[in-house]
Amino acid sequence: MNYLATSCRRSFRWKHEESVRELRQFAKDNDFKYDWFSANVPFWLEIFDRTGLRNRPIRALEIGSFEGLSTCFLLKQMPQAALTCVDTWAGSDEHVGMSHISSIEAAFDRHVEPWKDRVTKRKGYSYQCLAAFRPEEKFDFIYVDGSHHADDVIVDAIRSFEHLNVGGVMVLDDYLWRFYPRDAENPARAINGFLRLVEGRYRIVMTYRQLALVKTAERST
Ligand SMILES: C[S@@+](CC[C@H](N)C(=O)[O-])C[C@H]1O[C@@H](n2cnc3c(N)ncnc32)[C@H](O)[C@@H]1O
Repeated sequence: MNYLATSCRRSFRWKHEESVRELRQFAKDNDFKYDWFSANVPFWLEIFDRTGLRNRPIRALEIGSFEGLSTCFLLKQMPQAALTCVDTWAGSDEHVGMSHISSIEAAFDRHVEPWKDRVTKRKGYSYQCLAAFRPEEKFDFIYVDGSHHADDVIVDAIRSFEHLNVGGVMVLDDYLWRFYPRDAENPARAINGFLRLVEGRYRIVMTYRQLALVKTAERST
């Protein structure tokens, strides 16, 4: 597997620090209440460059958009991308008690307004939205960042992987995050299980607090 060395990570952190600053300024200027995303920017830009995703008319899928910070980043960085966003816009387990949750959908709509012609909203539970996709509906980039409960993560990962084109990239969030008291409920358990189930059909591009892979093969029947 192709893991990147830590020293290499440091160098591309510097390489992309202006882009991180830019996104943080964009979040400030547009009144985003939370930023869980900008720290990923150097990794994502590196992944885009290594996999040739930018500047071509790709189809992208985001599971978990919240106020739309990662969404806006994708739309800005991939000017020819059409993006489908799946979310309940009701928040996740870790958001219980947070202020502004009732206004996240309105915030999302306002934030993506400049790019709305390239955005398709699918409101609902991800397992239902993904099950409603036609089998031939395929994406070149998928970001799995919805519910972080292992039961949901494994369903989101497996279902969406079947909609990923060969050569397409999938990024799974919060690989190393521990929120639930039982390890088995946290994302790592689901992501490891998912990787086992699709063994031989992917290549890991990068691991950090997220895991990024390229799909290398369809399921053999
Ligand atoms: C961590 S936030 C997404 C953050 C966003 N990607 C960003 O980086 O700015 C997770 C989102 O997943 C949504 N969500 C949680 N469980 C879900 C489920 N089962 N189906 C669909 N969306 C879900 C929540 O409403 C929330 O908006």
